[in-house]
Amino acid sequence: MTDRKRMSASAPIGVFDSGVGGLTVVREIMSQIPSERIVYFGDTARVPYGGKSKETITMYSEQIVRFLLQQGVKAIVVACNTASAYALDTLEKEIDIPIIGVVKPGAKTAAETTKNGRIGIIGTEGTVGSRIYEKYISKVAPNAQVVGKACPLFCPLVEEGLLDDPVTDEIARRYLEGLKGSGIDTLILGCTHYPLIRTTIGRIMGENVTLVNPAWETAHALKDLLSEEGILNPEATHESLLEHRFYVSDSAEKFSRFANTALKYENIFAKTVRIEEY
Ligand code: DGL
Repeated sequence: MTDRKRMSASAPIGVFDSGVGGLTVVREIMSQIPSERIVYFGDTARVPYGGKSKETITMYSEQIVRFLLQQGVKAIVVACNTASAYALDTLEKEIDIPIIGVVKPGAKTAAETTKNGRIGIIGTEGTVGSRIYEKYISKVAPNAQVVGKACPLFCPLVEEGLLDDPVTDEIARRYLEGLKGSGIDTLILGCTHYPLIRTTIGRIMGENVTLVNPAWETAHALKDLLSEEGILNPEATHESLLEHRFYVSDSAEKFSRFANTALKYENIFAKTVRIEEY
């Protein structure tokens, strides 16, 4: 290994989302590649991304990437489907470190999971409207039929911590009613916030529908990418969560409380960053 690669192997991985949703990807990275340190950014002041334009999401993503690069990250995970759908192509051209999104790995798993060729995708208006999942699914399973449904209220419900709540249950029932009758056997949780309400979604869809969480595949793809690039951290150094760093654009306290519950740790102390200055 060259000195440059050895240096970058010990550098952290940058992960970002519009808010707390990307923590579902962080959880998978921590479990599949525990030797890696993470610098997380949640854009809690500007969440939700789901209904905003491609131009706005690209500008937000570029600011966050500039911030993460300043933190010395060796690779970036766009742990947000909306930003992956709208901004990943642009970001790939602008930076010279490895960067991956969550859409491609999730689409591949869904295409490989379905038995009857009918796949549902739930996500934000941006992700569903972009039809990006269809594009990647058709590369693996050209005959698959994909049914999309935007669920814009899920993200704010999760950000508010209403994970197991009658309100979330009622809204989920309304959103998922149509999908339930559509004959799908596989449903992609196409927003990184949704795994946090997976139990509710699974209960409504029933046991004949397999839920695909792109976070697992993304962490797996990240591990492969780091190893192809020769920058996988060989030392299992991190036992203490203090080595990870968490940043947000709004209240750090609220985020820390949520993150400690979602990741089942006690010692996350996020910091607030003025992201619009990047
Ligand atoms: N968690 C994000 C996603 O995967 C965005 C949700 C939002 O901000 O609307 O799309």
